Amino acid sequence: MSVDPIHLSVTGAYDRWSRFYDTYDNPMVAAATRVVAQGLGGVQDASVFEFGCGTGRNLSAFLESGAARAAGCDLSAGMLQQARQRDARLELLQHDMAEPLPLDSGTFDLALFCLSLEHISALDAPLREARRLLRPGGRIAILEIHPFLSLSGVAAHFQDGEQEVHMPAYPHQFEAYLNACAGLGLQVISCREWRPCDFQPPLTGKSFKRGPLFPLLLELHFRA
Ligand SMILES: C[S@@+](CC[C@H](N)C(=O)[O-])C[C@H]1O[C@@H](n2cnc3c(N)ncnc32)[C@H](O)[C@@H]1O
Repeated sequence: MSVDPIHLSVTGAYDRWSRFYDTYDNPMVAAATRVVAQGLGGVQDASVFEFGCGTGRNLSAFLESGAARAAGCDLSAGMLQQARQRDARLELLQHDMAEPLPLDSGTFDLALFCLSLEHISALDAPLREARRLLRPGGRIAILEIHPFLSLSGVAAHFQDGEQEVHMPAYPHQFEAYLNACAGLGLQVISCREWRPCDFQPPLTGKSFKRGPLFPLLLELHFRA
């Protein structure tokens, strides 16, 4: 007998997923891991803040790549617990990225959003906070599920045994990212649309479900 999917809050879903998030076979996470490993334009000696840092896998990778400081916030206590266990050097806050952070302005070189903005209905508040945290000349990097995918109904979800778990997700069009950043006076530095065929060695078969040319991820960089 099949079990009906359930819908949990973002915190409820990620608290449940946190136990096996890092080992789950997820094409978006696999692709994002490869992109982050390429350094997102360089993190040597940089102070990095990640909005929706989850289990801390990106932040920890930045420290391994030479970042001086790695901090982040997340709503889910379960995800943050995994992050603390992963790397004691991470500075972690349980905090909603749509709310102002208790951190000084102008103290980070790079602000990252990686697979987290799909859970946010309005992009302005977290992007404004990211801009506030940045030093002059600092950068915002956005690495999110590609609009073609999210607008066709693909959203974060996972299988926990027999149970399929869904959570709130908001597809964003290109105009949402670009207009939110333009409204904050952020300047586009670069845009890349990552397709399965762009990765070497190749990603696993799941990533090719829509063919080698159908983009998985949108990567945008803005200068503050
Ligand atoms: C798909 S996970 C990505 C985690 C991490 N960025 C990564 O690349 O592995 C999305 C994360 O965003 C977090 N999140 C969602 N909405 C949030 C919000 N309003 N404030 C802070 N974190 C949020 C979730 O708890 C979850 O850990």
